[in-house]
Amino acid sequence: MIMAKKNTNRMNGAEAYDTAFAGVTGETGAGMMNRSGTSTSPEDALDVIREAQRTPPSPKGDARQLAEYRKPYLEQRIPIGSRPVAIDQARTGRAEEGNTSVSLLLDKLGERLAFERQGVRLYESLIGKIKAIGEEPGGPAIDELEHILDEERAHFRFLSEAIVGIGGDPTVQTPCANIAGILSQGLVQVVADPRTTVPQCLEAILNAELADNDGWNLLQALVATLGVGDLGDRIEEAKEHEQDHLEMVRSWQAAMVMGNAAPIKPNPEGKQGRSQRVSTKSASKPPSRTVAGSSRSGPAKTGTRSKAKEQVEVKGKVASRPLARKTGRK
Ligand SMILES: [Fe+2]
Ligand SMILES: [Fe+2]
Repeated sequence: MIMAKKNTNRMNGAEAYDTAFAGVTGETGAGMMNRSGTSTSPEDALDVIREAQRTPPSPKGDARQLAEYRKPYLEQRIPIGSRPVAIDQARTGRAEEGNTSVSLLLDKLGERLAFERQGVRLYESLIGKIKAIGEEPGGPAIDELEHILDEERAHFRFLSEAIVGIGGDPTVQTPCANIAGILSQGLVQVVADPRTTVPQCLEAILNAELADNDGWNLLQALVATLGVGDLGDRIEEAKEHEQDHLEMVRSWQAAMVMGNAAPIKPNPEGKQGRSQRVSTKSASKPPSRTVAGSSRSGPAKTGTRSKAKEQVEVKGKVASRPLARKTGRK
């Protein structure tokens, strides 16, 4: 569906999806060809090099200037969030009287709570995707994913209760919860993207489960140190679930990736990489395409392909010299 331009801040989820896909037309599925590399179009590569040389970065300076600019902000030591305290202290504005160990525990429980919430979203999203496209060989079955989803929900509920149990508020965005939410945003985006495959989604979920396993291990150690023994059994149970999740996700991802792997047949001439490059360069120029809002009609370039190839090679050497000077490398 093609939509007119809209204020993206006011879109609902369905509208945002439609808008994201409004520019995706033409080639789809197996017929698509990855032209992101410069070797598929030496003429355009030359344009890119020329333009990069013509328009150096507008802000002057490098990482050292950035560090200088950040320094006064760093020296202020403003935290990313204030420490969570028990509801009683928060209500009466006596946060400074709060127990620092309780604050530490509330912060880490809040972090796990935020992560489990994202875990639920990840599995809900993957289940939705597999329901739409079907189960694939080596990959997860819907009922297996639903089993994990139930356990993630149970972890979320347990953490909520645990926070309430020590006098905290589970709706508080703690500093560590804030960071956990930001960290996992990319993972949720990968799985929710309709263009990603199941193995690509599993890669994202594998990252989540690896971090989750370490998170529960640390929480268990913290609870033991703080002497909050009544949380220990539930944490141990959640930890065992997470170990199972990790093993399952890891095995599905490996099976799906390896399921597509076959030995690369050597080129009869023994020059596979070279022959591929040559054949790509001798292929016809890719058809015109639209790039990020600017239409490129792809007019025919003058000059022969061999000339363009020569220009790229010569230009490539020229382009490398300033970089070597700037970095001080020889
Ligand atoms: Fe979990
Ligand atoms: Fe998990």
